[in-house]
Amino acid sequence: MSSQEPILYTVDLKKYFGEVRAVDGVSFKISPGEVVALIGPNGAGKTTFVNVITGYFNPDAGKIYYQGKDITKASRIKKIRMGIARSFQLVNLYDELTALDNVRIAVLSRLGKTSIFWKPVERFDDVRSEALEILASFGLEEKAEVPAKALPQGERKLLDVAVAFALRPRVLLLDEPTSGVSSKDKHTIMERIVPTVRNEKIATMIIEHDMDIVFGYSDRVVVMYDGKILAEGKPEEIRQSREVQEKLLGVTAGAS
Ligand SMILES: Nc1ncnc2c1ncn2[C@@H]1O[C@H](COP(=O)(O)OP(=O)(O)OP(=O)(O)O)[C@@H](O)[C@H]1O
Ligand SMILES: [Mg+2]
Repeated sequence: MSSQEPILYTVDLKKYFGEVRAVDGVSFKISPGEVVALIGPNGAGKTTFVNVITGYFNPDAGKIYYQGKDITKASRIKKIRMGIARSFQLVNLYDELTALDNVRIAVLSRLGKTSIFWKPVERFDDVRSEALEILASFGLEEKAEVPAKALPQGERKLLDVAVAFALRPRVLLLDEPTSGVSSKDKHTIMERIVPTVRNEKIATMIIEHDMDIVFGYSDRVVVMYDGKILAEGKPEEIRQSREVQEKLLGVTAGAS
């Protein structure tokens, strides 16, 4: 938990798709070093919230502030350059390329070297060693030369996070980094991600459905429901909230 000023916050953020109020007035904040879990049922608006923060969609109303500046209208690329990175619910990798090259491309793009990517990348020894170091912090060093498409799902998810991490963000928004893997693999993934982001004091928001993971790895939990924040608090507070139990965990009123 952090007592620092928030690095990123939103004020009454809204994004509607026709009649669907996907994000309906969300005021959220996150500070450096915090790991926040964003939970909520399917269709609650979690991915849309990330899409709006990162500039995939413009909000219909509301504001986004980052490092004290209004970035509501900044482009997707500009937000990445400022230090806001994300991973995807469905991974966003170059499948034919190796794990190392996927991370290398992210490092090169951060360094503004994308236009010379067609040149032999081996020339950039420093880029290669940085990419290897990043792979190692996610436990993927032995998979460096394996094409992304040949990795098992859990490692593909980790690689997608490693690619976002390679952009050296200050804010990292992870959309279901553990989806589609076994319960045991979910823990393995979180045990790679959480210490790495904490070590770098990256403000990290993780969208997650598995409650063991949510309660086990986050400092704070934000619950979204129908585009709104239903509740937020420490994991133990959220676990005990009657409203959250009824709406998310399927516990009916009166049941113990
Ligand atoms: N591009 C889009 N166009 C139209 N409607 C959309 C679009 N993206 C999301 N929606 C709608 O907005 C609502 C919120 O969707 P969103 O994907 O943000 O939910 P979510 O909380 O991420 O759900 P899940 O847990 O299933 O990933 C849903 O009703 C969805 O159908
Ligand atoms: Mg989603």
